[in-house]
Amino acid sequence: METVLSGIRPTGNLHLGNYYGAVQSFVKMQNEYNCYFFIADWHSLTTHPKPEDIQKSARTILAEYIACGIDPEKATIYIQSDVHETLELYLYLNMNCYLGELERVTTFKEKARKQPENVNAGLLTYPTLMAADILQHRAAKVPVGKDQEQNMEMARKCARRFNYIYGVDFFPEPQNFYFGDNAIKVPGLDGSGKMGKSEGNCIYLFEDEKTIRKKVMKAVTDSGPTEPNSEKPEVIKNLFTLMEIASTKDTYDYFDEKWNDCSIRYGDMKKQLAEDIVKTIAPIRERIIEISSDEARLDRIARLGAEKARESAAKTLNEVRKIIGFRPY
Ligand code: ADP
Ligand code: TRP
Repeated sequence: METVLSGIRPTGNLHLGNYYGAVQSFVKMQNEYNCYFFIADWHSLTTHPKPEDIQKSARTILAEYIACGIDPEKATIYIQSDVHETLELYLYLNMNCYLGELERVTTFKEKARKQPENVNAGLLTYPTLMAADILQHRAAKVPVGKDQEQNMEMARKCARRFNYIYGVDFFPEPQNFYFGDNAIKVPGLDGSGKMGKSEGNCIYLFEDEKTIRKKVMKAVTDSGPTEPNSEKPEVIKNLFTLMEIASTKDTYDYFDEKWNDCSIRYGDMKKQLAEDIVKTIAPIRERIIEISSDEARLDRIARLGAEKARESAAKTLNEVRKIIGFRPY
């Protein structure tokens, strides 16, 4: 069975973009692949979070992963910082990554621009740590959004280089993977292209029905179509994309027809969209509340996940040590 791995940084709560773009695929994949889903808390250190927030943030995502339907009996769910084997592989991979290529990664350039006072080495080697996350389980498929493409290219380079330098065929080249036909991009409700934490336009999975309805009803629209079958402007396209993702095809087609014959009432469309989002989120929210309150269960899940992940990572690491010339542990 092929191995799949993916992770999310614990920098806040999961939102609809995370859910439809990533976590929903994780849930489907756990039935078909050998899956590792982790919480990338080391990666979040690039922005220097407070010590008192570290464990809480990881726990939040852990509870939300499980509430979304990731089953710890089927997939290995773990917290990155519980698996210290990763760091040794990170060191070895760093020896074969070059300053120039790391500096050219767009996410590095962007972060360096956003936080010029904190362009640390961890930020530069972010893709190598990500490569270590992936390669330690010799994962073949990685479900991530388009924004991670360059990091994935670095992970493939790390695998290829290691194999080439040591004349082995040890690491598979990990591929970006979408569970559906295409990567899903959940648009923002403010007319922007993407729902994202840093965009401040998110619907969060923990939010109650009233808040969700209010947010959807406030979504940006225009004054409506003036000619039949006209092209939709960006903001309206976004609303329809959200509907395509969150509602049934019949619902989408109904409002699409209304757009085409100019009889659309955005208020009705938003009300329906809010209902459909609530339908998905309400049970998840309930489970988040239930699971978050059971600290002991979360502890058990994190511990079990760490054990399984460490076993897999240690196995790879021992092979790597032998290949490089070190004594295996
Ligand atoms: P954020 O944009 O909120 O900071 P992250 O960048 O941490 O979210 O993304 C975590 C995962 O969720 C990634 O796999 C990413 O591709 C996916 N993701 C985030 N926002 C969206 C979105 N609007 N549409 C689709 N996928 C998304
Ligand atoms: N860089 C990813 C993000 O920002 C998180 C991540 C870290 C990850 N390591 C990974 C994703 C390994 C997939 C595989 O969303």
